[in-house]
Amino acid sequence: MKIIAFFDTKPYDKAYFDKTNEKYGFQIRYLDVHLNQATVSLAKGADVVCAFVNDTINAEVSEGLAEAGIKLIAMRCAGYNNIDLKAIWNKLHVVRVPAYSPNSVAEHAAALLFCLTRSIHKAYNRVREGNFLLNGLTGRNLSGKTAGIVGTGKIGKITAAILRGIGMRILLYDKFPDTAWAASLNGEYTSFDELCTKSDVISLHAPLSVDTFHIINDRTIALMKKDAIIINTGRGALIDTQALVKALKHKSIGGAGLDVYEEEELYFFEDWSGEALEDDVLARLLTFPNVIITGHQAFLTDEALTGISDTTLGNIHHFFETGEMPNEICYQCADVGTAKCRHEQNKPCF
Ligand code: NAI
Repeated sequence: MKIIAFFDTKPYDKAYFDKTNEKYGFQIRYLDVHLNQATVSLAKGADVVCAFVNDTINAEVSEGLAEAGIKLIAMRCAGYNNIDLKAIWNKLHVVRVPAYSPNSVAEHAAALLFCLTRSIHKAYNRVREGNFLLNGLTGRNLSGKTAGIVGTGKIGKITAAILRGIGMRILLYDKFPDTAWAASLNGEYTSFDELCTKSDVISLHAPLSVDTFHIINDRTIALMKKDAIIINTGRGALIDTQALVKALKHKSIGGAGLDVYEEEELYFFEDWSGEALEDDVLARLLTFPNVIITGHQAFLTDEALTGISDTTLGNIHHFFETGEMPNEICYQCADVGTAKCRHEQNKPCF
């Protein structure tokens, strides 16, 4: 029986993986801790490591995993910016869940946007305290405004369709434009700068890479409309958070809906409610009435958790039983997110 060392376990992971595992019969060793240099020894005796978005899989950790006899890292997520693929080359295989429910993330992006534009977060608190005043809750129609979608992959496309459905004009930016799809949506690809300049809403759906790190920064924020809203369900470091805080302070941006944060590793997915936040940038962000932060929960739907557990355990089963790895993350292009590699299933990178 193959043993899986399952890092950073949460109750919902266990519930869904235990259910799916009824058909596979793996022995799953659930661990609360993140995978990193300090905890890698806990993988000893297992065949597979199952990891998530805030586990650290750098050169030391991959060395430690190889020494512990691990054959496979099964990521139970789509993103892989936390893995040093170059260091893993020729040591271990890495598989992921390329798509589980892109709708779950796109719908969460839309939820953050609607919540912000109609002050639902403020109204919820007010009404619960018996305050039915409407003062200060005046919103804005999104219909007729322009949405800029950055990254038109699985999630970006659904977000674009949702926003098109409510009557927004759609601008698009992607390194690999899908012009046929854009035409079907009446959307228009443009340069990133033009998208920043013309959009009322900017929603980020590109992977984090050397190309996209801090794509939202002082310069690009300066291009934006003063009331533009930024939605980020991609990865935290797509945004230079200091630049965002500055813009919010100076009212040179309309608001932000963030499901991810560039320094989220310490806080997100944990209960810090009884502690003082030591991260001053996060603490400052939380003070703005026009900022909504959720703790990386865009993926958290029944459909997505079912998809994640099905694909992850299926990936592990195939690796050992058939040797097939349709969801392997490409080793050849350690430079993740380059223009050349699309990391498509079963397709050569170059
Ligand atoms: P995808 O691979 O289907 O789409 C990504 C798109 O970004 C592709 O069209 C690609 O061409 C484009 N792209 C790549 N490099 C680019 C660049 N430098 N500039 C502009 N566009 C670029 O990925 P999918 O499934 O749509 O996911 C997008 C991202 O969403 C993931 O990388 C992940 O970081 C994030 N995510 C967040 C979740 C959450 O719970 N908040 C859950 C799942 C994914």
